[in-house]
Amino acid sequence: MASPRKTEVLQLLRDSKDYVSGQQICESFGISRTAVWKIINQLKEEGYEIEAVQNKGYHLTGAPDVLSLSELQSRMKTKMAGSHLLYFDVIGSTNVEAKKQAENGAPEGLLVVADKQEAGRGRRGRSWTSPAGANIFMTLLLRPRFVPEKASMVTLVMAVSVAQGIADISGLPAKIKWPNDIVIHKKKAVGILTELTMETDYIQYLVCGVGINVNQTEFPEEIKETATSLYLEGGRKINRAGLITCIMEHFEKNYEAFCRTEDMSGLLEIYNNLLVNKEAKVRVLDPRGEYDGLSHGINELGELIVEKEDGSVENVYAGEVSVRGICGYV
Ligand code: BTN
Repeated sequence: MASPRKTEVLQLLRDSKDYVSGQQICESFGISRTAVWKIINQLKEEGYEIEAVQNKGYHLTGAPDVLSLSELQSRMKTKMAGSHLLYFDVIGSTNVEAKKQAENGAPEGLLVVADKQEAGRGRRGRSWTSPAGANIFMTLLLRPRFVPEKASMVTLVMAVSVAQGIADISGLPAKIKWPNDIVIHKKKAVGILTELTMETDYIQYLVCGVGINVNQTEFPEEIKETATSLYLEGGRKINRAGLITCIMEHFEKNYEAFCRTEDMSGLLEIYNNLLVNKEAKVRVLDPRGEYDGLSHGINELGELIVEKEDGSVENVYAGEVSVRGICGYV
């Protein structure tokens, strides 16, 4: 558990351009000088750089890539997405934990974040490698009122939000590979796994898990050609907590737009502008038979509009189908 005082002191230091005196901290939170001193020391131990100058007070000079509950809470400004937080240094899978929390009555907007996963899950039963200290593993819990058929579009809403967050924080040209991989310079940096728990005709809850390769410095030989991280593409380390909160802000706004119409119409232009395989030749890997075509972006239901070589048009539903470039991953 993060101490609420520590979170508040951190927030005060972050929001102040100038020095904050010890007296001011004492008065703001009704705590003693000794308590302030202890909190400042705890923050320093966690990696924060805090300058202490006599007669002036404390000044936050550097917040390296600290991922902790205090760090997340002191940054999060959303009403729903991430308004409740759980942080783990190590966990099996944030998706599994979010589902467990949902079963125990956790509210919509709970965000489970971990520094490392020991049983990270990918799509199609694959695993998701989740080493400590560099990447983001997080899962958002939602309790939507729309029908289960619409749930797959939440993944697209998350993809838009993650791409926007990455562009804001790193300046990198994050693009979406339909339906929901995020690629940078044609290599995959993000995977999204949405899992649904439903009754016959309604959604009990939905968890949307996001894995982002942020500060990872190298990848195994087998995936080097297709996988990357923000650090490898941009050449600088990114503060993970800052990126998480930025993505939640985008998600909250985008999800509101989605819920107004219960389809992608309000986000169509943004999504299609971010699509790496728009007006591109694609190979549709349909279990009933592969075919090539020209992708024209998504329609309001999130289906990929593909013009086949014979001129006929298919609206491809993400469920069982994936799409590759004609000559490779994108
Ligand atoms: C993919 O295969 O592309 C999807 C990968 C999703 C990985 C994330 S990491 C956080 C969350 N917890 C999991 O176990 N999986 C998702």
